[in-house]
Amino acid sequence: MSQLADRVAIVTGGSRGIGRAIALELAKRGAKVVVNYNASADAANAVVEEIKAAGGDATAVQADVSTEEGANALIKAGNDTYGKIDILVNNAGTTRDNVIMMMKADDFDTVIQTNLRSTWLCSKAAVKSMMRKRYGRVINITSISGLLGQGGQTNYSASKAGIVGLTKALAKEVGGRSITVNAVAPGFVETDLTRDLPEDLIKQVTDFSALGRLASPEEIAYAVAFLASDEAAAITGQVLTVDAGTAI
Ligand SMILES: NC(=O)c1ccc[n+]([C@@H]2O[C@H](COP(=O)([O-])OP(=O)(O)OC[C@H]3O[C@@H](n4cnc5c(N)ncnc54)[C@H](OP(=O)(O)O)[C@@H]3O)[C@@H](O)[C@H]2O)c1
Repeated sequence: MSQLADRVAIVTGGSRGIGRAIALELAKRGAKVVVNYNASADAANAVVEEIKAAGGDATAVQADVSTEEGANALIKAGNDTYGKIDILVNNAGTTRDNVIMMMKADDFDTVIQTNLRSTWLCSKAAVKSMMRKRYGRVINITSISGLLGQGGQTNYSASKAGIVGLTKALAKEVGGRSITVNAVAPGFVETDLTRDLPEDLIKQVTDFSALGRLASPEEIAYAVAFLASDEAAAITGQVLTVDAGTAI
């Protein structure tokens, strides 16, 4: 039997990049997957088609998870479609990089709302139904920027550090119902999010990493799939860094 057979997973921002890889990997391991997106309907539908073509089950759901209505509607859609939610991956995220003197308050708010508020809102809605089932896996995508701090990313680093605190606090709140809450912290991963970063910065990070390379979206997905598995039942409140040895 597949590792995640009969499990239902929601992946926020599952249409592109790391979220897409996570949705595909969870489906490969047998989970039914709700692929959330905000604007990229075609990309989300392509992920669903890829899962179905491989014999899996998935559905695309549009929702802006930075809003309370969007987050609640997404969790409701998961429950309505598949009857429960076992796994929530809070992956949706964005950047608005700039040095603090040039950063607009709107850029701070957008990043905090998209990355941190969405994680809190979706967790709140999903944990309610997980508590009833006395089972759940919440996996939050943070970043090494939230662990180390990254110049030019005061907003993003704060949002990702906030996710670490949220992860540990929620793990303590819901552990009594056999719900685990963990975070995965990628280093640089080549996706649309990092496409515009200067090549010399990527080279610097690559050269600095112990493995001399970047981690791939698929390698982030393997860590998420492990934390979603029954084998990870005793792991909660942790941050698993997947960065080819950059932040060591
Ligand atoms: N790439 C990296 O180097 C890196 C490193 C560390 C951490 N991370 C984190 O990994 C996660 C995924 O990043 P990525 O690189 O895969 O980014 P990406 O390629 O830009 O994809 C972002 C995803 O988030 C979705 N999204 C954004 N705002 C949303 C909203 N308000 N509601 C619902 N969905 C929303 C997008 O949906 P649409 O397609 O509909 O726009 C898209 O699916 C983020 O949390 C990011 O901070 C990335």
